[in-house]
Amino acid sequence: MPTVRSFAGGPAQGRLYRGKLDEYYDLNKQEARAYGAYAVATTLLPNLVTALVLFYGGQLVLNEDGLTSGQLVSFLLLLGSLSEGFSNMGSIFSSITQALGAADKVFELIRRPPQSTPLPIPPLAPAFCSGKVELRDVTFRYPARPARPVLNKINMLAEPGKVVALVGPSGGGKSSCVALLENFYEPESGMVLLDGRKVQEYDPHWYHRHVSIVSQEPMLYARSIRQNILFGLEGEPDEPSEGEIIEAAVLAGAHDFILGLQSGYDTEVGERGVCLSGGQKQRIAIARALCRRPRVLLLDEATSALDSDSENLDSILVVRDGRVVEQGTHTELLGKVGGMYSQLVCKQVDALETANTICNEQEKS
Ligand SMILES: Nc1ncnc2c1ncn2[C@@H]1O[C@H](COP(=O)(O)OP(=O)(O)OP(=O)(O)O)[C@@H](O)[C@H]1O
Ligand SMILES: [Mg+2]
Repeated sequence: MPTVRSFAGGPAQGRLYRGKLDEYYDLNKQEARAYGAYAVATTLLPNLVTALVLFYGGQLVLNEDGLTSGQLVSFLLLLGSLSEGFSNMGSIFSSITQALGAADKVFELIRRPPQSTPLPIPPLAPAFCSGKVELRDVTFRYPARPARPVLNKINMLAEPGKVVALVGPSGGGKSSCVALLENFYEPESGMVLLDGRKVQEYDPHWYHRHVSIVSQEPMLYARSIRQNILFGLEGEPDEPSEGEIIEAAVLAGAHDFILGLQSGYDTEVGERGVCLSGGQKQRIAIARALCRRPRVLLLDEATSALDSDSENLDSILVVRDGRVVEQGTHTELLGKVGGMYSQLVCKQVDALETANTICNEQEKS
């Protein structure tokens, strides 16, 4: 709705909606006609048959032509239950055809062969996870768009305890790397590794307890903030305590605004978190990830600025067109004159300077 209103899309959307409604109306008319014919057939026919039997049978009885009135009444009763049986069969038949149509879809889903590699037996679930993450010569394309390679023999290594950032133009493939590390997809070739083993070999439950994600468009569920942070850990043996939930929220910078809400941690966030701002949702998603005390934390941020904090990163990979085009620390990459990273930083500095100049001029005038 906000999109429709802010782009004045009402009339165009209205026309689209009217078109769909017209289609629906036509289909309903067809259905009504078919039902009418069916109703006529099922109510008229038995009555017609009864009338015929009465007429012809009545004459046979009156003319004493081999039929007694008792036999005619018995025949009519028999006819009544027979036609009822037929009409029941009709309605059962239509329910069966409807159910078959629906069952077809359900069975299609059940029988769909999984596209992922089967888990080894038993799947990996080591007692210790160091958190070394690696993409090795990974080539990948999305099943929905097989014609377009998204990652092209990409290599990346994040040692335990190190902070590695992927930066680069929109559509370069950063979120796709994250999706592979989350084991949402499998690479076409190459390997996605955690502690030197393929991520597909790990027990999924174990894996997602050690590798947490805050996605670019975090998803919250229609429940309280506490339940959103706890998500998936309720009733588990290591369910976090109230103190641990608060600790995660403090770390994520969410605690203060949560306390400012009417019901604090019990505030309902609404369907998809509609009652919260984008930044608040993101902070709750970070608290949700931190609450699990993951060994690997994947943060997929849409518009993170390259600022002075970038100096604290252990390594920066510049990803463009599914390839790592530059790699190094902030200072090293800035030193590469004409390099992609220094260009990105320059663009940002330029934008900031332009904004500053405009502000200064406005203040002067
Ligand atoms: N689910 C999907 N199905 C098909 N193609 C996709 C899908 N998700 C992303 N793509 C395509 O894959 C390419 C890489 O997308 P990706 O989301 O990894 O980019 P990104 O570097 O994270 O960009 P941004 O900085 O805008 O978040 C893009 O060309 C995009 O169109
Ligand atoms: Mg992205």
